[in-house]
Amino acid sequence: MRILSVTFLVFSEILISSQDEVINNRRFPESFKFGVATSAFQIEGAWNEDGKGESMWDRFLHNNSSKTLDRRNADVACDSYHKWREDVQLLKELGVKIYRFSISWPRILPDGTTNKINQAGVDYYLNLLKELKANNIEPLVTLYHWDLPQHLSELGGWLNPQIVDYFGEFARLSFRLFGDYVRQWTTVNEPKTACLLGYANDYGAPGLWLVADGVYQCAKIQLLAHAKAWHIYDDEFRASQGGKIGFVLDTPWNEPASDSDLDREAAEREMQFGFGWFANPVFIGDWPQVMKDRIANRSKLEGLGFSRLPEFTQKEIDYINGTHDYIGLNIYTGKLVEYLPDYEIGTPNYNFDNGNNVYCDPSWPASSSDWLFYYPSSIRKLVNYVNEKYSPEEIFIAENGWADHGEIDDQSRIRYHKGYLSNLLDAILEDGVNVVGYTAWSFMDNFGWGAGYTHRFGFISVDHDSPNRTRTWKSSGRYYQKVIRTRCLVDTCVD
Ligand code: NOJ
Repeated sequence: MRILSVTFLVFSEILISSQDEVINNRRFPESFKFGVATSAFQIEGAWNEDGKGESMWDRFLHNNSSKTLDRRNADVACDSYHKWREDVQLLKELGVKIYRFSISWPRILPDGTTNKINQAGVDYYLNLLKELKANNIEPLVTLYHWDLPQHLSELGGWLNPQIVDYFGEFARLSFRLFGDYVRQWTTVNEPKTACLLGYANDYGAPGLWLVADGVYQCAKIQLLAHAKAWHIYDDEFRASQGGKIGFVLDTPWNEPASDSDLDREAAEREMQFGFGWFANPVFIGDWPQVMKDRIANRSKLEGLGFSRLPEFTQKEIDYINGTHDYIGLNIYTGKLVEYLPDYEIGTPNYNFDNGNNVYCDPSWPASSSDWLFYYPSSIRKLVNYVNEKYSPEEIFIAENGWADHGEIDDQSRIRYHKGYLSNLLDAILEDGVNVVGYTAWSFMDNFGWGAGYTHRFGFISVDHDSPNRTRTWKSSGRYYQKVIRTRCLVDTCVD
């Protein structure tokens, strides 16, 4: 009788926990690292305190409040610069094994150069790292999560090749100062989105409309900067510190809208323009062939004597190729891709170079953000794709999360993480993909770039109207806490 009822419970849970989905009821491997993610600009605040320099995002938002939906900026954000102790206690209560956060470059180097080191900024990160260690939480540290020092932005930012050296210096200093506490580093977070947001339009800092060419220059320079940091770590720190270093790429899972060859080809091209753009140089060497061919061809038809996609020298290809110890993936949603005939020649543009119709299926449940839909198999399909095509040593899901308007009883977020984690578990256990960890976006509600504070991603709610930035647990936080404790997504798991 007991066995029968347990069996019934197990099955009912698998089948009923969500109307149309089957949730995997096996356990995540012991070694799997559950965690949460944030970034400096989005949570720290204290934008000009204790010697911190100005970042290009500070300037961008101070110059024009209409850059965010709610006209608010990140001067205070979640005030984590002051509330870090409380935040580590929340992380501890959540039970995370790993915490992904970023270092604000201008907080430790006010003008971005090693000309002046801001000791108060260094102490902030040292204190945080020590507190994490004391609570048995591993750090996963991102060097660049978009808050470029304003001075370097004025020098040309990610369009100036010399930034590669400046980034190298910042990276070396970070390895030297913090490396004893850090076993996993990320060089650059989402280089594609960083370049598209700030160098192909003005949704993000520095807000340059260089969609024909600047966006490709930015990509090349970010890749060289990533490689520089990787080599510095490899040559000077790996032996003594023994950590891993790689970058984090974002992409939706792009699926053909139909079975037609044209749509299949279009979906693969979409992956290459949005993901291979950065993954190929690092894992294979050089840009994806489809990008080289199409952009060179269109540039020629536009009357240019060279391609708008800047070529790599053989030396650069060799320098960038192989600069990985793992790959970090930020995956939130799926997209359907439909073939379109090539855009007419006339206006040079990254989007026309690629030229597909990309959309979300209207039947997928929508989040509060117009780009984010619930399509849980996207994560399983993506990790399989990345595994087959790029054979990374390890895959780490560096971000995955759901936007709503800030509900405390956030059932839609629970459904999202349950569905995506179930598919991730399938990828690990059924498909044999080596996914080693997951840092959900996000630990707490934070500043969402152009969205301001209008879309919330956190397991912990933050009251951005209270001077104290009061933190409150959401239902999803309690759910995730249990997932971490049991390594299991449903109430009754089998081993
Ligand atoms: C990816 C970015 O890394 C992060 O900064 C952002 O807030 C989330 N996506 C959600 O949009």
